[in-house]
Amino acid sequence: MKSPKPDYVHETLDPEDWGAMRELGHKMVDDMLDYMETVAERRPWQRAPESVKAHFNAGVPLDPQPADQIYDEFLEYVLPYPIGNIHPRFWGWIFGTGTVMGALAEFLAAAMNTNAGDIDHHSANHVEKQVLSWVKEMLGYPSSASGLLTSGCSAANLIGLTVARNAKAGYDLRREGVKASKKKMVLYASQEIHSSIQKAVEILGLGSDALRRMPVNENFEIDLEALKEAIAQDRAKRNHPFCVVGAAGTTNTGAVDDLNGLADICEEEDLWLHVDGAFGAWAALAPGASGKVAGMGRADSLALDLHKWMYLQYEIGCILVRHDEEHKKAFFLRPDYLARVEGGRGMTGGDLPWLTDYGYQLSRNFRALKAWMSIKEHGSRKYGRLIQQNIDQAQYFAQLVKAAPELELMAPVPLNVVCFRYISPELEEGKLDDLNQQIMVELQERGIAVPSGTRIGGKFALHIANTNHRSSWEDFHTLASEVIRLGEQISRYL
Ligand SMILES: Cc1ncc(COP(=O)(O)O)c(C=O)c1O
Repeated sequence: MKSPKPDYVHETLDPEDWGAMRELGHKMVDDMLDYMETVAERRPWQRAPESVKAHFNAGVPLDPQPADQIYDEFLEYVLPYPIGNIHPRFWGWIFGTGTVMGALAEFLAAAMNTNAGDIDHHSANHVEKQVLSWVKEMLGYPSSASGLLTSGCSAANLIGLTVARNAKAGYDLRREGVKASKKKMVLYASQEIHSSIQKAVEILGLGSDALRRMPVNENFEIDLEALKEAIAQDRAKRNHPFCVVGAAGTTNTGAVDDLNGLADICEEEDLWLHVDGAFGAWAALAPGASGKVAGMGRADSLALDLHKWMYLQYEIGCILVRHDEEHKKAFFLRPDYLARVEGGRGMTGGDLPWLTDYGYQLSRNFRALKAWMSIKEHGSRKYGRLIQQNIDQAQYFAQLVKAAPELELMAPVPLNVVCFRYISPELEEGKLDDLNQQIMVELQERGIAVPSGTRIGGKFALHIANTNHRSSWEDFHTLASEVIRLGEQISRYL
């Protein structure tokens, strides 16, 4: 065979000057390690000025730009304006902080640019298999369960509920669709359940009214008697109850449902128990809190995140399913172009399952690596101590709130979430909402700390979720005193 014509041009996207790119790469690593090391010296969040926002209106670059200039642009326009969740005084919503090893691992995974969806003879598949078995071991979930690392807990909830729906439909739902169901399929969760459950129910074609929202007790845990009653009512109406979703840590208050109670009801009623343990599942590792999630191991499926309370970089969540066959049945599809070659040879002839058989994604990134490296770096005992530290800090902060006459605790603090507000005898209820919203905004805008806001019993509350391995005890003290200071200042103008 003749070689190609000498005038054929071969272009690639590799650097023209590897030496210069190597130098730039080293600078990036140095800069980012400095950035992480000094995070506490900066504000948690700062607003991007209009000039910075305008920078992102430029059209697509038609011609190459020098790599060092692109990096300079990143340093000027991108890096200074993050959400701020790696900062020790960031506690808004429920965010994770990331680890240094996690950041480096992301680079390693990106350099390999492996696809952890199909093909069994490659290292990423083994790493993910090991991470999944560590997660099961750490959480006390059966080792025979199947699992998949996901983009987050929303995806994990969607996968778990897909398996639940298909397994309990009583007919071939994958082929016939939800329309073929003779009875309305319904499921139950507390009114405190995360919005991703409703989204999943809608995506699954069940309709959001199929999700029966149960009342909660004074601890914001699902009311088991109300649940039993609702199931009985649905059966009487010839609906088809198929699943209960339990919460291992609600977003609003960190409440953990009585998971053993739910598992008993599900056994009696032949229902699938799915547990959303986005962050709370990891209480299982904390020496003083593992009892709170007792019963979690009895769930048919368990959804959780590692980018919240395992402190890993976004994105990494996980779904575990007790019944491997049901899990695979919900997603397995093998077109000709994905056929495997039996016999142990070649890239597709190994004995590991393909991860794509357990979810809806074919191409998947190598998110397992950052988990594998970070868990090895610190060990599960240290993670347990840090999770316990976060819980203890939340309890400490709740004590500060209770001890201050200007502050009010708005909900019990079973784990690491504290809902509270500033109060003043001179201000009526309606004004307190406004005042506390302003306190939240000022804390964010002045770069003091980042709480978020929610409503407890209809009243606006400042919400802090402590999944932050960088927060010191002093940081919580600062938060309490700054809320009081701002509350006093702002209430003068209301
Ligand atoms: C209890 C709970 N479930 C599910 C989710 C969704 O997880 P993700 O943001 O990883 O999709 C969250 C997010 O905060 C959550 O708190």
